[in-house]
Amino acid sequence: NVLILDFGSQYTQLIARRVRELNIYCEIHPYNKIPENVNTFKAVILSGSPFSVRAEDAPHPDLSQIRGKVPMLAVCYGAQYLAHFNGGKVEASEIREYGRANLAVIKDQELLFDEIPENSQVWMSHSDTIKELPQGGVRLASTQDVLNAAYRIEGEQTFAIQFHPEVYHSQDGKQLLENFLVKIAGVAQEWTPEAFVDMTVNELRDKIGSDKVVLGLSGGVDSTVAAVLLHKAIGKNLYCIFVNNGLLRKDEFSNVLNQYKGMGLNVKGVDSSKRFLDALAGISDPEEKRKKIGNTFIDVFDDEAHEITDVTYLAQGTIYPDVIESISVNGPSATIKSHHNVGGLPDFMKLKIVEPLRMLFKDEVRRVGGEMGIDPELLGRHPFPGPGLAIRILGDITAEKVRILQEVDHIFIQGLKDWNLYDKVWQAGAILLPINSVGVMGDERTYEKVVALRAVESTDGMTADWVNLPYDFLQKISNTIINRVKGVNRVVYDISSKPPATIEWE
Ligand code: XMP
Repeated sequence: NVLILDFGSQYTQLIARRVRELNIYCEIHPYNKIPENVNTFKAVILSGSPFSVRAEDAPHPDLSQIRGKVPMLAVCYGAQYLAHFNGGKVEASEIREYGRANLAVIKDQELLFDEIPENSQVWMSHSDTIKELPQGGVRLASTQDVLNAAYRIEGEQTFAIQFHPEVYHSQDGKQLLENFLVKIAGVAQEWTPEAFVDMTVNELRDKIGSDKVVLGLSGGVDSTVAAVLLHKAIGKNLYCIFVNNGLLRKDEFSNVLNQYKGMGLNVKGVDSSKRFLDALAGISDPEEKRKKIGNTFIDVFDDEAHEITDVTYLAQGTIYPDVIESISVNGPSATIKSHHNVGGLPDFMKLKIVEPLRMLFKDEVRRVGGEMGIDPELLGRHPFPGPGLAIRILGDITAEKVRILQEVDHIFIQGLKDWNLYDKVWQAGAILLPINSVGVMGDERTYEKVVALRAVESTDGMTADWVNLPYDFLQKISNTIINRVKGVNRVVYDISSKPPATIEWE
């Protein structure tokens, strides 16, 4: 195992991503909660930080259990921290170094720079600079503006670099991480989807034994992969519940339910459309809608869970970014939010929690799903919000509006698939606007609904841009929608980026 100590850098998760891409398992822990068994880790990486080491409130952990005992790579703040507190000197740089720089390697016999070409592009992001190396420090590389871009401590497996090997713009960053982890620290590259499935299935069996587990399926990737893993481990003792809130895509409930059954899952489909629509009647405020849907879901799920006798566990599809966000609430990170999945379960459901995916990133979840033979189409599905079409129907919600939007959405999504555009888009959907517009069909004046189409590219939904869909495609889709969906006479395409807009309209 590899330990990443987080000093609050926005790139800490990226370090973990890169390490995992090397098929090496790693964990992120906040700098102020160093695990007690730290000397059992094979290697430690110190992250960057928004702080200056010279600030009084800067992270200031005791590294004596790590340094000299476990191979260590200190990145950016980590490199400055090592220097500052061990006889070196860190000062504000005269020129702030952000962005690209080229590395001149001085000690090229060092394994850390093995297979890395001269002048390799690296990415800098710092406003302090290391003026003098710490005791025992040996300079390994410089850039035009940064004298001490990399150094090591003599006689120790301790390395420090001022640049960020984890960002894509550092051309050979992954090679450097591999050099450190594999060639220097001797970590084995065994973290594969296959190994994860074997290990997790065994762990789940040990932990759960013959107890019963209940899990809410959503049709999304995470809950599906979690269910299949648990099913492999405990078979019929996994009770899945798939709730139709009446706000899913057209035919989604029956299609996905059949797919789940085809996978051998013990799943109960619960059609509660009416209960949700009744709860939503007359409500226009977006947050109010979300609350009603969330509460109704808990009620329905609780009713269903009570139908199963002697349940011990509630399984959830929580993934690593959710976990990190929640941990960081008390940690140093500047951009934080708490996540609904992690705070745990409502009070009245006193079940133990099992989260088989809590150490995985989204793309790893997909690979694990692929390894277990889950349909690639299911694994490649666009994200879909929990409140579903409710937040894409602006204003109040009626069964008729849901029907109209389901038809429009279906034509759009099917069109994307037919035109081979679906996989090029991160998320897509249609929005039903709360206004009518005038049109003409045949010789008749119409006064009907307007729908907006939205398709965005993104990596995590935090930022997004609209997709430049071909005009031919938009023309065809617009035509089909207006001709086929009764009640709609106008289609517009949303060309707003996030920020300042958001992906959903509500
Ligand atoms: P926004 O609209 O905030 O959306 O740019 C970012 C991503 O989050 C999804 N989203 C939600 N997902 N419950 C969810 O489960 C919600 O209430 C919710 N609101 C937005 C949205 O679909 C996009 O992927």
